[in-house]
Amino acid sequence: MTENNIRKLQQTALWLKNSYPHQPEIGIVLGSGIGNLSREIEIEFQVEYSRIPDFPVSTVKGHSGELIFGMMSGKRVMAMAGRFHFYEGYDAEQVVFPVRLMRLMGVKTLLLSNAAGGMNKDFKVGDLMMITDHISLFTFNPLIGPNAELLGPRFPDMSEPYNKNLIEKARAAALRNRIPVREGVYAGVTGPSFETRAEYRLLHMAGADAVGMSTVQETIAAVHMGMDVFAMSIITDMGIREEDNVITHEEVLQAAREAEPRLTAIFKDLIGSM
Ligand code: HPA
Repeated sequence: MTENNIRKLQQTALWLKNSYPHQPEIGIVLGSGIGNLSREIEIEFQVEYSRIPDFPVSTVKGHSGELIFGMMSGKRVMAMAGRFHFYEGYDAEQVVFPVRLMRLMGVKTLLLSNAAGGMNKDFKVGDLMMITDHISLFTFNPLIGPNAELLGPRFPDMSEPYNKNLIEKARAAALRNRIPVREGVYAGVTGPSFETRAEYRLLHMAGADAVGMSTVQETIAAVHMGMDVFAMSIITDMGIREEDNVITHEEVLQAAREAEPRLTAIFKDLIGSM
């Protein structure tokens, strides 16, 4: 990270602290089709990305996304409605800028959500999967470049990217709500094309149960800064399958929307139990 980018990050954090006097302890990133989760937040402050100094500008016309601050299950949270993906053309530092900003705002625990393609044959569309580990080798690493010692070490350990204690708590939350959840390894890819059949098979052989175009960079940046991370995928399509079907963005969004209430219930309970 360049000196200039560190300065921008600090200035943006200062601007936000001047706009919102409280310190959030939990950060939430809402994935594709998972925007309704923000309705569970008693909003104290809300700001569009386009109004925040030096925040990455959305490439998508219309809604730019927003940061939401407030209370959820009795805890102060900071949520990101609309994330940045590498496939949109953002560089590595832009993709993880909001996560770094969360840490500077005081966030210690990061909850990530996403839509993902399933490869584990036991999975079906609509399943929820807690991410126990990830494979990020097929995408870029957001820590490439000069290391900002202020944020974290040059060579951060990645032996437990997803906090075991949080996974344990989420298991209990799922059980309390009688919601079945899977557990597995998430492979990060750049997209935007979905994988070929051969690519899904390769990723599965490599040890991944699900694949998606986000999350791993955010996790790496968060672990670099010493945050505890929990992540959950909605399985929106099956990559390894018998049928001749194609995979469309519409069905991904549709499946995510249908599963979202279950994911939201677990996140709510998990936050309350933290
Ligand atoms: N592949 C990659 N990313 C995805 C998929 C997929 O099948 N489904 C949702 N996001």
